[in-house]
Amino acid sequence: MKYILVAGARPNFMKVAPLMDAFTRRKSAGDGFAVRLVHTGQHYDRKMSDDFFADLGIPEPDINLAVGSGTHAEQTARVMIAFEQVCQAECPDWVIVVGDVNSTLACSITAKKLGIRVGHVEAGLRSRDMSMPEEINRLCTDAISDALFTTDELASDNLRREGVPESRVHFVGNTMIDTLLRCLDRACARPLPSGLEAKRYAVLTLHRPQNVDDPCVLAGILDAVGVVADRMPVVFPVHPRTAKSLDTLRLHPNLRIAEPLSYLSFLGLVAHSRMVLTDSGGIQEETTVLGVPCLTMRPNTERPITCEIGTNRLVGTDPQRIREAALAVLDNGSRPHRVPEKWDGHAAERIVEILLDGHPVSG
Ligand code: UD1
Repeated sequence: MKYILVAGARPNFMKVAPLMDAFTRRKSAGDGFAVRLVHTGQHYDRKMSDDFFADLGIPEPDINLAVGSGTHAEQTARVMIAFEQVCQAECPDWVIVVGDVNSTLACSITAKKLGIRVGHVEAGLRSRDMSMPEEINRLCTDAISDALFTTDELASDNLRREGVPESRVHFVGNTMIDTLLRCLDRACARPLPSGLEAKRYAVLTLHRPQNVDDPCVLAGILDAVGVVADRMPVVFPVHPRTAKSLDTLRLHPNLRIAEPLSYLSFLGLVAHSRMVLTDSGGIQEETTVLGVPCLTMRPNTERPITCEIGTNRLVGTDPQRIREAALAVLDNGSRPHRVPEKWDGHAAERIVEILLDGHPVSG
């Protein structure tokens, strides 16, 4: 058997790392199969890619498609053209994709049309918001996948409702949390940036096109975050997309702008923080496991379990609502929370076991 594992953008790398690790351990134990790691190059800056490979100990990709940035159609098409050649040369039995970025969609379609089985890690998440490119990527990838690995039962239920046969749905847990649990001690041992004290600062991340591409929308959100900055430093590692809109804005003096952080530095920063304000998907899950209050500045989430039992709260992008929610967290702290089932550090092992031993039904 031959497996191709695909990584493309920053949030993919934490999901791919434990899978590579689990495959490698099975190989060392004497199992006969081959794995190739393909990096599409959707993210390519050192701080968005190489630093993550170094922090997470992911081996050098066997192949880098170096597609770079572009419109959605350009980027997706470039990945498809380059990945088709890889599949034709490598003839894998399975292509394993993770998450919901353009590379996920591009590689799953390409593989499926060549008759190669597709496994989707983090299947079944739904925001029901078709204005999000990620929702389109998730729906299309899930519709053609042969094995769908879910992070929680709500995601499995979504797939069942969409008519995916039970035999293809595998509730395995969360590979991103595998990585978090593996790295947490190392991350927390790192010194905090100068001037910061544990639990006396907040962390802000913003990169959704709806929130950052229009400087007026971004200004409204940053103005609302000012209620937190009035009380404590707010560390804001800036995504390259956000940096483009930030130049023109006047910023609160307590907003500490930083370049994108490496995985370990960011994890340590979040773990010691008082609260997080974000529009990211993955950070909603990481804060739930860390027990750090999280305000998600989006109208919806594809990860409702983080609101139902975790520390996450959906606050939208109305500045007044953000202000009220932020003040409530500062005054009242965290509410009771639990870690979702199977977010226990063993999701990747379960996936590799199913792939190598379980023979999910193909169609
Ligand atoms: C992508 C994913 C999004 C994910 C996010 C995490 C899609 C549709 N979106 O969004 O789901 O949450 O990654 O970061 O796949 N850029 C750089 N250096 C890089 C990469 C990008 O400067 O290494 C800049 C480029 O100007 C590029 C812009 O950032 O045009 C956006 O990059 P892109 O990969 O298109 O989307 P993201 O916003 O990063």
